[in-house]
Amino acid sequence: MANKTTEASLLRAARKARLKAHAPYSQFQVGAALESKDRKVFIGCNVENLSYGLTICAERNAVFAAVAAGSRSFKRIVIVANSKEPVTPCGACRQVLVEFSENMEVISVNLKGQKYRATLGELLPRSKAGILDRPCST
Ligand code: THU
Repeated sequence: MANKTTEASLLRAARKARLKAHAPYSQFQVGAALESKDRKVFIGCNVENLSYGLTICAERNAVFAAVAAGSRSFKRIVIVANSKEPVTPCGACRQVLVEFSENMEVISVNLKGQKYRATLGELLPRSKAGILDRPCST
C-alpha cells in the first residue's frame, strides 16, 4: 500500500529538495513539496542563474514539475528555507500557484521549525478578477 502523504512527509520532502538548490549567488536555499489532489508529491528547489533575473523559485519549479507530469490540481505546498522567519512565496510564485488551485494551503517552515500557514486566497486576493473578462458589447 502506498504511504499516506502527511504534512510531516511533505516537510521531509521539501527539506530534501532544499539540499538540491542551486543558489551560489544568494546562498539562500529553498525547497518545496507540492501535494496534488490525486495525492502525488512534486518537489522543487530554487535554481539561480548568473544573470539573476532567470532565477526560478522552488515553488514554481515544483508546480512546473507537477504540470509536466500531468497533475494540475493541488491541496497544499510546504516550503522550507533557513530564514529568520518562515518565507512566503514571492508574488510571481503566488500567481503561478493560483493558476491551478486558489484554495491550496501554503505552509512555510524554517529550519528552527517555526511555521507559517495561510491559504493562497489570503496571500493573493482578487488574483484573477477582470483579467480577459471583456465587456461583451465590444
Ligand atoms: N526563493 C524561493 O525559491 N522561494 C521563496 O519563497 C523565496 C525566495 C529563492 C529565490 C532566490 O534564489 C533566493 O531564494 C533569494 O531570493
